[in-house]
Amino acid sequence: MIFELKRDSHIPLYAQIATQVRSMIATGTLKVGDRLPPNRELAKTLGVNRTTVTTAYGELEADGLIRSHVGRGTFISAVPAASPSTVKKERVQLSPMLWNALLADQKRDSWLNAMMHSIRSKDTISLAYGLPQADLFPLEDFRRCVDRVLRREGRELLQLGMSSGYEPLQEYLASQMALSGITVKPDEVLITNGCQQSLDLIRRIFVGSNDEIAIENPTYPGAISVFCGNNAKYSSVPVGDSGIDLSALEEILSQRRPKLIYTIPSFHNPTGVTMDIAARRRLLELALKYRVPIVEDDIYGELRYDGPSLPSLKALDEYGLVIYINSFSKVGFPGLRVGWIAAPRIVVDYLNAAKQKCDLHASLLTQAAIYEFSRHGLLAKHIKRVKRAYAQRRDAMLEAMEKHFPDEAIWNRPEGGMAVWVKLPQSLNAGEILLQSIENGVLFSPGDHFYSNLPQYNVMRLSFTMASPVLIEEGIKRLGAIIKRRLLSLRKQRAIGRAEERRALV
Ligand SMILES: Cc1ncc(COP(=O)(O)O)c(C=O)c1O
Repeated sequence: MIFELKRDSHIPLYAQIATQVRSMIATGTLKVGDRLPPNRELAKTLGVNRTTVTTAYGELEADGLIRSHVGRGTFISAVPAASPSTVKKERVQLSPMLWNALLADQKRDSWLNAMMHSIRSKDTISLAYGLPQADLFPLEDFRRCVDRVLRREGRELLQLGMSSGYEPLQEYLASQMALSGITVKPDEVLITNGCQQSLDLIRRIFVGSNDEIAIENPTYPGAISVFCGNNAKYSSVPVGDSGIDLSALEEILSQRRPKLIYTIPSFHNPTGVTMDIAARRRLLELALKYRVPIVEDDIYGELRYDGPSLPSLKALDEYGLVIYINSFSKVGFPGLRVGWIAAPRIVVDYLNAAKQKCDLHASLLTQAAIYEFSRHGLLAKHIKRVKRAYAQRRDAMLEAMEKHFPDEAIWNRPEGGMAVWVKLPQSLNAGEILLQSIENGVLFSPGDHFYSNLPQYNVMRLSFTMASPVLIEEGIKRLGAIIKRRLLSLRKQRAIGRAEERRALV
């Protein structure tokens, strides 16, 4: 197999590899059943990082073109839909269906697959994903909880249940929220498959084709894909040092009357900023004045490492203006897919009906297991442990940045959450830095992914939860060196440019 990689192209190397494999399959150079070279071998041959090949294979697997078999290797499993003239008929079975033409939503996002492939690669230092580190999961404790609930009520848990959720968990969550000042009854709590589903259900019941929502800019990309995809209407509200820009929001509320305001007031993703109490109160006043409900995403709320704790918007809400969403993904285990919505009963009833249409209900076994884990204090113990680890990692990252990043880079010190938001000089492009950084074994998230509008290309999000302090220091050191080199080369180019200009004037 011969690949031609253009290292100076704006197309990432993994995408170039994936495209070339696709075309080899389409032209019959590679046939169904053919074996691809192992990741390590191909990476070595091409002189690229192993992650690059893993990500390329991940894309092809997500497209259903290749399949990996543990211990046997990776094989071509299908051919892409292509012009029949380009493909030898006897070799391939082309689908008679033009799937792309039939799809209502032609955007195919395989970011989750690509991400999971790069996470699995042991050689990379990952500062890219806001996820808990799996090494910290208390597996034995959790296994015992699963055993216990199966023994106690296995038959009920494996039967179909109520779409509103596993009742003991609804009751438990209502009692836990009461401890943080949120007063809701158990039937005002809907269990979902995580905040991502909560956002989708909220959109389904509130946002019609002509409706608009107000969304922070930048924000969590999963919210952008729910609220801003498929010709949706939305207003992007800037985020400042103390969260959502309230003056900009008021202008939008008064002029455009959006259906909802979506906000992450604590340890905002990606900027890490937290709204102070005055800003929280003012936001609630605006919601009341313009009668626009707030969707409060509090997924990072409990991950505070220092500074005084603040009440959630829902806890401050006297008028039932807030639809509160949270999940066990950041404090516990994202793979469980258990989250919840707390909202006025009428809203929960509609959301419940939408949930039923979607997937009937969340898995009873996982709900019961996390309930058992929580009620025995094991979640609280786990949170205490991860908070200690994450605080250390955040500090290690900030210290390393002080040491290795150029003076021109600016960042904040988040009091909680999972990441640090870095602003580079305007002339630098974080996406280009990422390409070099991947080659050096370090992953991070370029900031432009987090914008629904007017993306900024000189920002980056560095997550500190998934690597040890030692690896964080190493990752930041490598990244700092890349940024400094790029700054230097830009300065040199500019100096040459200036010299050329002077010469031209003479
Ligand atoms: C702000 C925010 N909301 C929601 C989610 C998705 O959470 P869940 O795993 O509960 O669906 C994420 C995940 O990164 C997030 O950052």
